[in-house]
Amino acid sequence: MSNLVAYFSHPDPFNPEGDGESEPPSGYVQRDGSVLGTVQVMADVIEKVTHASSYRIEPKRIYPSNFRILEQISKAEKARGDRPELREPIPDLTDVENVFLGYPMWWMDAPMAVYSFLEKADLSGKDVYVFAAQSGYGLADTLKTITALAKGANVNQTPLSASCFLTVEQLQEEVISWLYKING
Ligand SMILES: Cc1cc2nc3c(=O)[nH]c(=O)nc-3n(C[C@H](O)[C@H](O)[C@H](O)COP(=O)(O)O)c2cc1C
Repeated sequence: MSNLVAYFSHPDPFNPEGDGESEPPSGYVQRDGSVLGTVQVMADVIEKVTHASSYRIEPKRIYPSNFRILEQISKAEKARGDRPELREPIPDLTDVENVFLGYPMWWMDAPMAVYSFLEKADLSGKDVYVFAAQSGYGLADTLKTITALAKGANVNQTPLSASCFLTVEQLQEEVISWLYKING
């Protein structure tokens, strides 16, 4: 039996350099020349600690890095309830016991591609753990929506909701203490 981290992350393009003075928040971490998203940092920790494999939930049509354009596209997708086509096929889930599902909050919801994943992946009989990044507005109804969409799965009702303004170190600590908590 194995663990899978399935996550969506699109580094917030609004201010990729931080303010240039204080330590940049986790979503703006640069590694190998690219900016990592907050959810990606969280996913990396879970992957290492639980020896999980990972699947990045990415739509076929990559989102723009210009925030204003991203705003228009993502708001329209949400309004229509789109299920964007995914770039990579759903991985083989046969031997997966635990699925860690991660996403950023977008307009008080998960990005629509997360729902494309949930509607395609057969998670029945699996334990699903939700972790998300947000900028202060919480998880809204996303846990409820995910619980309804992940048919036959046991969706843990203690999600991790992390602020995108934490530093990488703070974020890593939050993820690790959450892993202890849900391991109960
Ligand atoms: C298009 C867009 C919409 C967002 N909407 C919300 C929101 O409704 N509530 C919230 O708390 N944060 C919102 N945020 C902030 C993100 O949740 C936050 O930056 C998160 O850390 C992004 O994770 P990522 O860098 O891994 O993609 C939004 C960010 C973007 C880019």
